[in-house]
Amino acid sequence: MLDQLTAPVLGAIAAHLGTDPAALRPLLAPPAKGFAADIALPCFQPAKGAGKPPPALAAELAGVVNAAGLGATATAAGPFLNLSFAPAATAAALATPLAAAPAALRSGAGAGRRACIDFSSPNIAKHLAFHHIRSTMLGNSLARMYTAAGWSVTRINFLGDWGTAFGRLISGWTREGLTLDQLQAAPDQVTFLNELYVRASQAAKADPALEEDARRWSKKLEDGDAEARHLWQVFKDASLSEFKRVYGLLGVDFDSWKGEAYYEDKMGPVLAELEAKGLTSIDQGATIVDLPKLCGKAFKIPALLKRADGGTLYATRDLAASDDRFADFAFDRSLYVVDLGQSLHFQQWFAIAKLLGRPWAERVRHVGFGIVLMWNDEPGEGLEPGWAKGRTRNGKIMLLREVLEEAIERADAIIREKNPELPDAERAKVARAVGVGAVVFNDLKNGRTNDVKFKFEDALRFDGETGPYLQYAHARLCSIERKAGAAAVGDPALLAREDEKQVLLAIARLTAVLDRAVEADEPSILAQGLLTLAGAVSVWLSAGNKDHGARVLGDDAALTAARLILVRAARIHLAEGLRLLGLDAPERM
Ligand code: ARG
Repeated sequence: MLDQLTAPVLGAIAAHLGTDPAALRPLLAPPAKGFAADIALPCFQPAKGAGKPPPALAAELAGVVNAAGLGATATAAGPFLNLSFAPAATAAALATPLAAAPAALRSGAGAGRRACIDFSSPNIAKHLAFHHIRSTMLGNSLARMYTAAGWSVTRINFLGDWGTAFGRLISGWTREGLTLDQLQAAPDQVTFLNELYVRASQAAKADPALEEDARRWSKKLEDGDAEARHLWQVFKDASLSEFKRVYGLLGVDFDSWKGEAYYEDKMGPVLAELEAKGLTSIDQGATIVDLPKLCGKAFKIPALLKRADGGTLYATRDLAASDDRFADFAFDRSLYVVDLGQSLHFQQWFAIAKLLGRPWAERVRHVGFGIVLMWNDEPGEGLEPGWAKGRTRNGKIMLLREVLEEAIERADAIIREKNPELPDAERAKVARAVGVGAVVFNDLKNGRTNDVKFKFEDALRFDGETGPYLQYAHARLCSIERKAGAAAVGDPALLAREDEKQVLLAIARLTAVLDRAVEADEPSILAQGLLTLAGAVSVWLSAGNKDHGARVLGDDAALTAARLILVRAARIHLAEGLRLLGLDAPERM
């Protein structure tokens, strides 16, 4: 959207250089820190064309722009040409389209392209622990951002629904003579299964016959035995209903739930193909791909595809699953939102896909992320409070649902105090949006490869870089609109204040921000763009506290009508930006 503002200046520069403005447009960048400009044109590339040193060209172009009388001031800063636009020129270029069509945050960058996004993908019969927030909400946000950028997206939950744990569970279940009714009556079915698993493991440790029984059930399950499959399905359904409860709280859904079990009979052909192409070797009975030999020094160790006892492995499953996804969706890009701890796994099977000559081998991306640290306020006797790895708090593993519920409860108390008039039913909804939003935004605001620190008090602050801060800025704009009622359509040219210009620019930059966030698979880029917008909105709205003439709802009807254009545009962009990150935007709080 910034194009409308920069077009006349780029036109003048291009005419002077005898080039195409379209070639200059992609060069535009935010100005370097410390420069009070709106946008910068780095002159390295145009200088090459002109056969001049970049600083000389920047100085020359500054003269051209300033002489052209386009409502822009240019200054050369070394090799950069810094541009500042007059508020009136900014309003004319940016506010007019916002007044006409305030539709927010869409880009055509991905039009006609398809993406698969594998995210959350938890292991069943276990809880969603707090750390699952990362893959779940990074993936959810990427899915929404890709969609907004024009991609057609398939959201995949690659459930970890296979493995020896099920043999043990079934063995314990039959030995204890448990029934479906007992499972369904449990307040939390996953806890019920977890406890069963612990009892079964302990019993098997004491009695080798039970260990043997578990192994027999595992084998039966693999061979398709009806009773084993039935119980496996029961356990899977129980886990899924608990998962879906948490996904419901987070507002997350999936298009495909094909888990690891689905690929059980699809790995043989992949292994056979690898063997036929001479890519596998046998190492102590196990089937491996000797990546150091086949791909060189980037690899230190071979990839393991099949154990000596015949069990197939994770990498083999992922290869088969990617073939399947490509057959189903013909993806242009396929993302795996999985913690950085699994980097080697992805490097390995991506390399094997290349060796196999897969057409999709260059289209897969591991979108890695760091770990979660939780603030531990009661670490126990003689220990200082501090950040606990392994997402434990006060010695206990935190479940994702528990963290969300506590955040909602705390948000409820804060809102009760800040806005006592809010009716109970509405406050419950708002508390949910704010509590969940606080947890989610805390996770997305920094670059994903960083570790995340989570402390309830910090995440729930209404000032600073938080979800509630953004939601509050949005609610404030909604409240102004409610007070204004139905106003006449204003004249965008009246938005001539510097603080209004900053709001306009923050809005106008968001489309490019979205594109950059998608290209880098980095929701934090959008999160930071929204913080900038909310900051500009807050400066603008606070100006009215000191200066009556700066108020949105002031005495001058024409000014008010113009300012309401900006209120509406900022409100719509904040709401949509929050939605793309996975946060709701309540209208009051
Ligand atoms: N279930 C795995 C885990 O919990 C994550 C799966 C990630 N997706 C994949 N296609 N490998 O560690």
